[in-house]
Amino acid sequence: MVGTFFTAILFAASAFASPSAGDWLSAESEIAIAHIVKNISPADASPGAVVAAQSRVSPNYYYHWVRDAGLVMDMVVDRYRNSKSPQERYILLGKLEEYLVFSEGLQNVRTIGGLGEPKFNVDGSAYNEPWGRPQNDGPALRALSFIHWAQVLISENHGDFVRQRLYDGKAASRSVIKRDLEFVSHHWRDSSFDLWEEVEGDHFYTRMVQRRALVEGASLALTLGDAGAAAWYTGQAQEIEKDLLHFWDEKRGYITVTRNRLAGVDYKNSLLDTAVILALLHGSLGDNFLRFSDYRVQATLEALQRSFAQIYPINQRAGVPGIAIGRYPEDLYGGSDFENGNPWPLCTLAIAEAYFRVAAEAGRSERAQFWIEQGDAMVSRVKYHAHANGSLSEQMDRHSGFMKSAEDLTWNYASVLSTQAARIKAVQSLRIKKK
Ligand code: NOJ
Ligand code: NOJ
Repeated sequence: MVGTFFTAILFAASAFASPSAGDWLSAESEIAIAHIVKNISPADASPGAVVAAQSRVSPNYYYHWVRDAGLVMDMVVDRYRNSKSPQERYILLGKLEEYLVFSEGLQNVRTIGGLGEPKFNVDGSAYNEPWGRPQNDGPALRALSFIHWAQVLISENHGDFVRQRLYDGKAASRSVIKRDLEFVSHHWRDSSFDLWEEVEGDHFYTRMVQRRALVEGASLALTLGDAGAAAWYTGQAQEIEKDLLHFWDEKRGYITVTRNRLAGVDYKNSLLDTAVILALLHGSLGDNFLRFSDYRVQATLEALQRSFAQIYPINQRAGVPGIAIGRYPEDLYGGSDFENGNPWPLCTLAIAEAYFRVAAEAGRSERAQFWIEQGDAMVSRVKYHAHANGSLSEQMDRHSGFMKSAEDLTWNYASVLSTQAARIKAVQSLRIKKK
């Protein structure tokens, strides 16, 4: 059943001639959810494993990364919440339940990196080869995906299930959210590897998502009567907030990605990185802390585009909208070599999504219209390099623009869905008068 429901969507996809950015994004969202469903619990993996991609060689992404899975399942929760199709909701709920069982297992596996272990074999066993570990954004992102599901469950009167399986409120907790929050609240000061798995130090990305997990976790804890924990999580989140402001570098004129580097890649001299924008997208609480229209965020967005516009030959072609964006200017990772970094769809979409968020902050105004157009240009850029059937690989070759590295990277499709959600919000807020 899963097969037919979603493959029909994948086949119908190529019919679009030259849709606008908005139309392409909506069509692409249907393709995205179909690919996501395909990459959760594939046939030869344990149920609930989310493969980073189906690719098993050059590169081998056939593993469950805690970060990728958290980001992807968060979008599954979102889709589940908003879907009007009982059939789709049934399928997505099944995937969520499997992800829960799989994640419970992972928290109990003995690993080299402890709870911050970044990736697992698809049968749920530990991956014990050398790797950049721990990566402490993982538990925060995993917690966020389950917190969001818990919110939906509570609103649908399934609080008992939440108390039993997701947040039991016990000091020596056996439930996924609480275990991750205990870890995050006691270990956020620890250095770890960054989301790109390359640099050990203190990272803006990691701390932004840790803060959000603690704040939203505190609110869930309070709902469930765990007031002491709620106060502790809130206090730690406030400490993180202070720390996060130190990443703003007045001289360079942007928010830097890492402080106190200890080991790993040593050629990231600019400290300019799209991870900062991803941090805001995945970690923002919609409060007044580093809003998308904040001058520091704006300056970072500009610095990134200026840099990538110069570095990548495909950004010098005339007549192509937007700018193809990569991870960071000094990047060398090509998927299976270290010769040349490339632009990534998920990084390019991150800039689009950030612009849609700026537009939503601006409300009903000409400025908002302007920012939506900026976002659309970035979406059109991804559309330009995407396969005609909507398939997106991890990278786009910096010279030819062709899709490169892991095909159908699952995270790409999560970023399509979050970009689409942000665009819808931005367009809606154009219609609402600001008070
Ligand atoms: C694979 C990926 O995680 C990539 O981000 C990284 O550059 C290489 N491993 C090298 O650590
Ligand atoms: C390499 C990326 O750098 C990292 O962020 C990601 O988690 C893995 N690939 C798996 O997609």
